[in-house]
Amino acid sequence: MRQFVYISTAAHEVSNDDVVNILESSRRNNPDRGITGFLIFNGRNFLQLVEGPEDALFSLMNQLARDSRHSGIVRLEDIPIETRTCEEWAMTRLRLIDPVQERRTNLDAILPASLAPNVRRTVLNFAALN
Ligand SMILES: Cc1cc2nc3c(=O)[nH]c(=O)nc-3n(C[C@H](O)[C@H](O)[C@H](O)COP(=O)(O)O)c2cc1C
Repeated sequence: MRQFVYISTAAHEVSNDDVVNILESSRRNNPDRGITGFLIFNGRNFLQLVEGPEDALFSLMNQLARDSRHSGIVRLEDIPIETRTCEEWAMTRLRLIDPVQERRTNLDAILPASLAPNVRRTVLNFAALN
């Protein structure tokens, strides 16, 4: 299995409905493909961790690259894994009106315990953006 972490920039016109639709697609498709992970949205940028069989991940990343609801995908982590970090699929939102330290603390509390320390740091740094 592999684990990818990427960040991207939401399209200007991305609405709440779009985000709900992304979540619905993920909940519908990911379990059948053996993909778990999480998506974080701060209103401007996405950070997504996806993990599972390589074939399934490559086809998801191809699909994501064509999705006009975001652009500028930058892959931050791409590592082989033996065991999953996430048991299921989840999404969370960061509120930019919250102070950065509070965003980091809240995010740290909900990230999976088995997340590799360097991946955790990468994800927590996302909380400081914007
Ligand atoms: C930031 C972002 C993350 C996404 N993550 C997933 C995902 O994990 N799984 C998924 O199936 N689709 C995801 N999508 C949506 C896909 O690009 C695509 O629209 C969807 O898979 C189409 O499937 P559907 O026809 O079943 O809705 C994501 C889209 C965006 C913009």
